[in-house]
Amino acid sequence: MKKTPHTKSNGVSAKTGEPRRTDTSPRTSRPAKPGLTGAKPAQPTKPGSGSAKHDTAKPRRAETKTAPGRSSTQANAARRPTKPAPAKLPAQAEGAKPRRVGTKLTRLLSLNVAAPKAATPAAARHQTETISHANWLLYCRPGFEQDCAQEAVAQARSQRPVLAEQPEITANSGYAVVTLNEQALSYRELIFARQLIRLHHTIDQLPERDRLTPILAAILALPGNFSALWLEVPDTNDGKTLSAFIRRFQPLLEDALRERGRLTADAGSEKLPRLHIFFTDKSSALIGTSDPYNSAAAIMGIVRQSMPGEAPSRSTLKLAEAIEVFLDKSEQTRLLRAGMTAVDLGAAPGGWTWQMVRRGIRVTAVDNGDMKGAMAKNPLVEHLKQDGFKYAPRKTVDWLICDMVEKPAKVAELIGTWFTSGWCRNAIFNLKLPMKQRVQALDGALGGIKSRLDMEGISYKMTAKQLYHDREEVTVFLSRTKNR
Ligand SMILES: C[S@@+](CC[C@H](N)C(=O)[O-])C[C@H]1O[C@@H](n2cnc3c(N)ncnc32)[C@H](O)[C@@H]1O
Repeated sequence: MKKTPHTKSNGVSAKTGEPRRTDTSPRTSRPAKPGLTGAKPAQPTKPGSGSAKHDTAKPRRAETKTAPGRSSTQANAARRPTKPAPAKLPAQAEGAKPRRVGTKLTRLLSLNVAAPKAATPAAARHQTETISHANWLLYCRPGFEQDCAQEAVAQARSQRPVLAEQPEITANSGYAVVTLNEQALSYRELIFARQLIRLHHTIDQLPERDRLTPILAAILALPGNFSALWLEVPDTNDGKTLSAFIRRFQPLLEDALRERGRLTADAGSEKLPRLHIFFTDKSSALIGTSDPYNSAAAIMGIVRQSMPGEAPSRSTLKLAEAIEVFLDKSEQTRLLRAGMTAVDLGAAPGGWTWQMVRRGIRVTAVDNGDMKGAMAKNPLVEHLKQDGFKYAPRKTVDWLICDMVEKPAKVAELIGTWFTSGWCRNAIFNLKLPMKQRVQALDGALGGIKSRLDMEGISYKMTAKQLYHDREEVTVFLSRTKNR
């Protein structure tokens, strides 16, 4: 007999993925749900200005805790009037006649299931919305939602006019939803997006007793099969509280999809889209798919690294991640070989140097600070107590790595000098972002490097990403390629 997800008996509810209640005490109210909608309004910016004001307000969740003794329905009703105005993305008007698409995510979506009625059974009371435009779900570092959405909209706008209004974002939520016409987004060219997902459904008000049925129905309405099922949550403290819940829910949904042949591990299946269920809380799920050739191959878009015991600083994780993200396996083998040479500007205490040394690469470590631990006396390391902006190598080196804390424009100018002077072949460097006008500062720095290299007729490849281990910064890979 076929096993159905409803017949599991492991102390976990087959429908909800939560442990079965065995006690008879009254249920405590559910944690407050953060809206899919915005917190504090962001200042609209001029179209194309590239600048953005960043909302540093705490997420609304803190204000919306269910008061003890109140039901979540009561709490929901009480929450409604306090809903702040949505944070909007810059309005786009160029060429296109502005379309009234609404200011809320819900208004951008065409509703295909009637709004819940009070008397409907809990299992049927969910609300499923089908997207009518192309909606994209992007994960990002919390606090960078505006940058992430702004950048995606700018990329889309470079192809054709974008919709007049954009969905709101929630400050510090760790994700953004962008609604486009027919533009295609390129994951590789997005700096702030950790993951790029085509969003197909949002399901709100999932019934506590049966989350599986509405989620499964929404998935089954999608065409085609999937290579993987990734249940994900925002990279926030609130998101972390959902980890146990998604771990329990994963096998239930996975079994249901496998039974229906929609999740497959057949040869060649790695080319199929991945299925993402993104829980913003236990009652709201965003359902989307990612193209394996246009997305991050890591759950939640996070390329995790384990801290090597010998490395002198946690910064080492940043370079380890950069190498994994920017270089494919063959490039790692070809470009990072024993016997090569590197200069590390701003090297102390030695986490980045350690990554090079462990690959047998000889490093000139430039920093007035001290190198520590294993990097203080390694025969492959020469430590120079000098100003990194004044140092010039005697011979071309294979690698420049640079993690100096300086203005992005100043670091960019230095990088331009290294490449136009032929001092290095490849570089990985970090740009520390200012608190305000981050996208503008970044565009200026990267644009400055590009125009210098273009002017000199140098062929190159440049990729930038805000890595998981980056904070208020982004990491850039720049490599000289053969001139045609
Ligand atoms: C974030 S730390 C680098 C950490 C290092 N990448 C690691 O993995 O251990 C920044 C370093 O840049 C150095 N620094 C800042 N300005 C510098 C300059 N003008 N010349 C050389 N080093 C500089 C600081 O002394 C500091 O050690």
